[in-house]
This record gives sequence, structure tokens and C-alpha cells, in this order.
Amino acid sequence: MVVTPWEVKGKVDYQRLIKEFGTQPLTEDLLKRLERYTGSLHLQLDRQIFFSHRDLDAVLDLYEKGTKFVLYTGRGPSGPVHIGHLVPWIFTLHMQQKFNTRLYFQLTDDEKFLIDDSVDLKTTQHWAYENALDLVALGFKPEDTFIIYDTQDMDLLYDLTLEVAKRITYSTARSTFGFQDSTNIGWVYWPAIQAVPCFIHKKLTGENVPALIPAAIDQDPYWRVTRDIAQKLGYYKPAQIHCRFLPGLGAGGKMSASMPETSIFTKDSPEIVKKKIWNAFTGGKGTAAEQRKTGADPTICSIFQYYFFLFEQDKTKLAERERRCKCGEMLCGECKKDVAEKLGKFLEEHQKRREKAKDTIEQYHIKR
Ligand code: TRP
Repeated sequence: MVVTPWEVKGKVDYQRLIKEFGTQPLTEDLLKRLERYTGSLHLQLDRQIFFSHRDLDAVLDLYEKGTKFVLYTGRGPSGPVHIGHLVPWIFTLHMQQKFNTRLYFQLTDDEKFLIDDSVDLKTTQHWAYENALDLVALGFKPEDTFIIYDTQDMDLLYDLTLEVAKRITYSTARSTFGFQDSTNIGWVYWPAIQAVPCFIHKKLTGENVPALIPAAIDQDPYWRVTRDIAQKLGYYKPAQIHCRFLPGLGAGGKMSASMPETSIFTKDSPEIVKKKIWNAFTGGKGTAAEQRKTGADPTICSIFQYYFFLFEQDKTKLAERERRCKCGEMLCGECKKDVAEKLGKFLEEHQKRREKAKDTIEQYHIKR
């Protein structure tokens, strides 16, 4: 297993990551506390898609005493958005709505330029705009959502970037991120820039409040170095809530834009979705007759994961689907057809809202 901000490979053992990264599991107690503010537990919490955190308890303690928090998340715009990217954003939207709080969203067109030799700035800037449309399409409110395009907004970030960079040594950066002698110096410096949106709220409003970051767990190294220096600069340590990766449609591994055949992109047409789903890896058997007799294995099935992560909100119905699969009552064809329909509908709506987002996108751009 490899899990770094730039590479995720192999079968991810999330319990091991909690230990290796030194994060905390999301306990029943903490979930109950969250539920008090959100009414019911969001599907992604209930199913442990978000499974780990740092300082969520501290953020809630402060909240109870009247100090709000802001949300912060982001995206490295290296290509089109797939539905795996939407998973933590959907949860972020839920948090924004329930806690009525600001979201800072960073599009790291600079990072993606630095880490990939084969890509130019125009390309990552183009994807930053395209990816922002997907975020807006999910329904974030413009009054409370502040998108940062790094290469356009560096003037706003620069003083804080310097404050952060000055306090992180090369030795810390190298051991946290695994930099080599051949790593370009832009990349070595770059982690300072991902830290800045944790602190930007104070610069814009004068309010010192903690940031809570909902994101996949691969981003954790950034937060480790940021947490080390936050208090020296007079800020709260940023808190995190970490999620799992949505699996791709192949046998194992996360959904990844570099494997388009096993990824569902937000701009895919219904025909393409159907084709990809049809070719997906399932827990099915060689023949229908055999599967009717011995049943299939939903635990290894990529299709079942889509019901689990996104498309079957109802616990009882999810359990029923699992039962029918395991005993051979329902075959893969039926399950694939259902998921292709659900995905098709979801994407049709998303694509409409994404088109509309072109008219409003400027309202989301962070202001000076
Ligand atoms: N480094 C992230 C990526 O490559 C992008 C990012 C910037 C981000 N700030 C973030 C992701 C905050 C999650 C939370 O995808």
C-alpha cells in the first residue's frame, strides 16, 4: 500500500493509516455529538466513509462555547472531475448547510504544474475552471463559498505563504513528503501554499476561528506540517475529518482519472456510463447458473460500492440488495442496470447545473 498526496496504490488499509499517520478514529461519541447539530447522521458518517479525524472534538468544544469554524477543502486540477472527487464535496456541502459556515476551496493549478513534468500552466488553469464548475453544480451558496485559484490569487496568499514557509525546515519537509535531491525546488516550497487557506479567514474578516478540513486521507501530510506551525503564527491548529477513496470500476484500487475506463467522469454521457458499468468488475461468478446456485460476493464488487457510497441512501434497501446478491437471487446484470440508471439520472442533473454554473462562477471567486 502506498498513500501519499501524489500517489495512492494497492489495497488501502484504513486502520493502518490511522496508526501510521497518527490520526484518531471517529468514535460513536463524536458521531453522536455531531448528530446533535446535524439532526441525523449523514450517510458518509453512518457508513464510516469518513472514518478518522484530528481535533474534531476540539472544534466542537469551541463551537459549543460560541466560536464557529470555517470549512476548507480543495482539488488539484490535473484533469476532469470524477464521481470519487464528488464524495467529500457532497459531505462538505452537508456541513456547510448544517453549520451555516464558510467554505474556502483551493484549486492548486500551481501544484499540479510543479509535480508533473509533462503539463503546462495553461492546462492546469483550464482544469481549475472546469473543476470549479463541478463544485458549484453541487449547490454551494455563493455568499459562503470562496474559491481560490492559486495562480490568480497568489497576491492574496503570498504574505501568509511566507510566514508559513519560513517556519518549516527543509528537513521536516523532506521527511514528511519524501523529497529527493532531484525534486524541483518549487515543489519543495509548495506545501506552504496548501497551508494558507487554513488561516486566510482571519486576514479577510479579522475573526480567528479554526478550519475544519473534510478531505481524503492522502492529504494528511500537508496538515501535519501545518498543525506544527499554526500556533506559532497565532492560529488554531487546523482540524481534519478524513474519508476513504471511492473505488474504481476495476478489481481493487481507487477511482483515478489516469484510468478513464474504470472512472465515471461528471461529463460522461449515459452511453459511456452504461458501457463502463457493463465492463465493471463485480463479485459475480463465471456463469448465471453457477451464480444462482452459490451467490456472489458484494464485498469485492465495484458496483456494490456505488450503492454504498452514493446511490442507496436507505439502509434497509442496501441490506436487501446485499442479501439478494449473496444468495444468488439477483444477478450482476440487474444490479448493473440499476446503477447505470441511477448514475445516468444523477449525471444528467449534475450536467445541467454545471452548465448553469458558468453564469454564476465569478460570484464564488474569492474577493480581496
Ligand atoms: N493537494 C490537493 C490535490 O492534489 C488539492 C488541495 C489543496 C486540497 N487544498 C486542499 C485537497 C485541501 C483537500 C483539502 O488534490
